[in-house]
Amino acid sequence: MRVCGYSDKQLMGQPHSSIRHPDMPRCIFKLLWEKLNAGQDVFAYVNNRCLNGDHYWVFAHVTSSYDDNQQIVSYHSLSRCPKAEIISNAIAPLYAQLLVVEKSKTSRKAGIEASCLMLNDIIAKLGVEYEEFIFSL
Ligand SMILES: Cc1cc2nc3c(=O)[nH]c(=O)nc-3n(C[C@H](O)[C@H](O)[C@H](O)COP(=O)(O)O)c2cc1C
Repeated sequence: MRVCGYSDKQLMGQPHSSIRHPDMPRCIFKLLWEKLNAGQDVFAYVNNRCLNGDHYWVFAHVTSSYDDNQQIVSYHSLSRCPKAEIISNAIAPLYAQLLVVEKSKTSRKAGIEASCLMLNDIIAKLGVEYEEFIFSL
């Protein structure tokens, strides 16, 4: 709340997308939800928007919470302050590239498909999986 500038009343019960920054490529959220729904944890760098229009980066560890029947009942995110050089040298340029591809398509769906392909391609060329890539930064 101190960083984003919203009050608890403005935040409680609201979707996380309330603080979504328009510079965030949607393919990152697609990857996040796919992993969560497959029962996996996700680590992701996320750029969020403050109430006053500023932004702040987090390194989020997002997990699902389960009931006794192993059904997902909620989600949890622990966000850490990322290293500034990882953002400036790797993540911000990567996300900017993904966003250009995403916006170059006529529909949102086609944009997300194209940026997902690009992200997979970049990571595959490094010969690693997404998580390995994230932790190699
Ligand atoms: C536990 C959890 C934490 C999340 N944290 C953020 C966040 O800090 N910022 C954000 O933009 N989206 C976050 N998301 C993803 C949003 O739910 C949403 O998918 C994303 O903002 C994209 O918005 P859209 O799905 O409406 O396009 C989080 C999701 C979960 C499950």
